[in-house]
Amino acid sequence: MLRRLHPEQPESFAFTAANQQWAEAQITKYPEGRQASAVIPLLWRAQEQEGWLSRPAIESVADMLGMAYIRVLEVASFYFMFQLQPVGSVAHIQVCGTTSCMICGAEDLIAVCKDKIAAKPHELSADGKLSWEEVECLGSCANAPMAQIGKDYYEDLTAESFGRIIDDLAAGKVPTPGPQNGRYAAEPLKGLTSLTEYDSGRTQYNASVQLASDLGDTVKRIDGTEVPILTPWLGKDGKPAGASASAKPPKAPEPPKPAVKQASEAKAKPAEVKEDQPQTLAAARDGQADDLKMLKGVGPKLEQTLNELGFYHFDQIAAWTPEQVAWVDARLKFKGRIERDGWIEQAAKLAAGEETEFAKRAKKDGTYED
Ligand code: FES
Repeated sequence: MLRRLHPEQPESFAFTAANQQWAEAQITKYPEGRQASAVIPLLWRAQEQEGWLSRPAIESVADMLGMAYIRVLEVASFYFMFQLQPVGSVAHIQVCGTTSCMICGAEDLIAVCKDKIAAKPHELSADGKLSWEEVECLGSCANAPMAQIGKDYYEDLTAESFGRIIDDLAAGKVPTPGPQNGRYAAEPLKGLTSLTEYDSGRTQYNASVQLASDLGDTVKRIDGTEVPILTPWLGKDGKPAGASASAKPPKAPEPPKPAVKQASEAKAKPAEVKEDQPQTLAAARDGQADDLKMLKGVGPKLEQTLNELGFYHFDQIAAWTPEQVAWVDARLKFKGRIERDGWIEQAAKLAAGEETEFAKRAKKDGTYED
């Protein structure tokens, strides 16, 4: 299977403030000159935050670790656990298709995925909420067939129970992970035959399911606020415990670039603006649509999407209120780009007949962004 960068990429990537702090703490685990050792944890955290690894995410991790972009891309494209294409905004479902699961009905589960999500693995469902793939053994063979959804295992599945779980996820509910046939963990179906004295006093669910259930966030993307950032390998002075006074202090990770920092701050803000549909047009006025590709962040595909939504002119975009931005944003593939790229400010200038730096360059070079 060819593993390439996805043709459609977001403009930028930034860790949330808490994830940035976590990532910087991980880097201090490694001695001077060995910061590259943190590449997998950082890529993994980027994926846990966004759902997949975009080019800006890979480059941002490379910048933090002082690595060449190609070196980090090599790691990201080598390991199948890294998703190089957008995944469902609610959940990416990984169905185990290895021996035990295959014998016990994995093919039925894959048929459910094809029916309810998308015909092919790694394709988004029509509403963009779900995606799926077949994976190798996830180590839960005694509870076959099973699937990993978000951070948790859903085990002892049937086509019916799996279908219900997918419907629940699509409806915004958080299903309870673990065995779906009434088993507590991986004990015999008819109940415990030994160590029965431990049967009393147990929690409602087995330990992993209990934790997931207490957190109530089986498919929540990790933003770094879930657990305190622990750095037990550092002394009180922030240096590795036991480091001699003459030892060279670990190199501080490079501060993120200003643009990335701004995006990080923007991301940290709660986005709870109520949506309001802006006025749209059935067609361009006088059949003369503005070239929306003159807006930074809008390429041919996004322009087509905007046209399909009923936006053809700069003055329409310039007039969007925050509520209307929220409405449009919810209908774009990559969220937050309207604010991040300053479409409204750009559109206001272009609508007034002024030029923007980006539009001047785009006209000159014939290059757009998407
Ligand atoms: S074969 Fe499916 S979890 Fe091992």
